[in-house]
Amino acid sequence: MTETQATEHLTVVDHPLVQHKLTLMRDVECSTKSFRQLLREISHLLAYEVTRNLPMTTVTVNTPLQPMEAPAIKGKKLALVSILRAGNGLLDGILELVPNARVGFVGLYRDPETLQPVEYYYKVPEAMEDRLTIVVDPMLATGNSTVAAVNRLKEGGARNIRFLCLLASPEGVARMKEAHPDVPIVTAALDDHLNDHGYIVPGLGDAGDRMFGTK
Ligand code: URA
Repeated sequence: MTETQATEHLTVVDHPLVQHKLTLMRDVECSTKSFRQLLREISHLLAYEVTRNLPMTTVTVNTPLQPMEAPAIKGKKLALVSILRAGNGLLDGILELVPNARVGFVGLYRDPETLQPVEYYYKVPEAMEDRLTIVVDPMLATGNSTVAAVNRLKEGGARNIRFLCLLASPEGVARMKEAHPDVPIVTAALDDHLNDHGYIVPGLGDAGDRMFGTK
């Protein structure tokens, strides 16, 4: 089995560990505690993929034996931007792998009637134009929230943006491709469709509720 299935715009991380953990998370019987733990574990594996081709440079390091030119990530610290509230579940795990990253938050809620995003919070690091920005939200459903968050980040100067999610719908991917073709998407799975309430099917339900034990 290949580890990823990628087009220029979409990468599905088809790794056995990712797929197995995702199956456990989809199960309606998966407890809040297990769901959170599995999300943290998957976020490490997805972070590995979304950071795979970061620009590199070399630095001089003194080993106990001699100086050498060794590889290091180039440029300013990454910006991780969580779309509240479910984005925080992915954010926490990624921060364990990229502990020096700067962190921003975009607060959007989905109007249940129109399914359109409404912004209630926005705070991001300075110098966004110089940072690779990784936007995180577990569910790319209609794409409305993601498109709105990326619009806002671009208005704020961000130019080099990637989007990381756990599950994507074909509708959400198409919406992002139309609105932001320059933003690559990394996901663990591309599901079948959206239902009339904007939920991903078969999906895993409401990611925020499952992560935080709310209804
Ligand atoms: N948000 C979720 O949490 N789940 C979905 O299926 C769609 C949007």
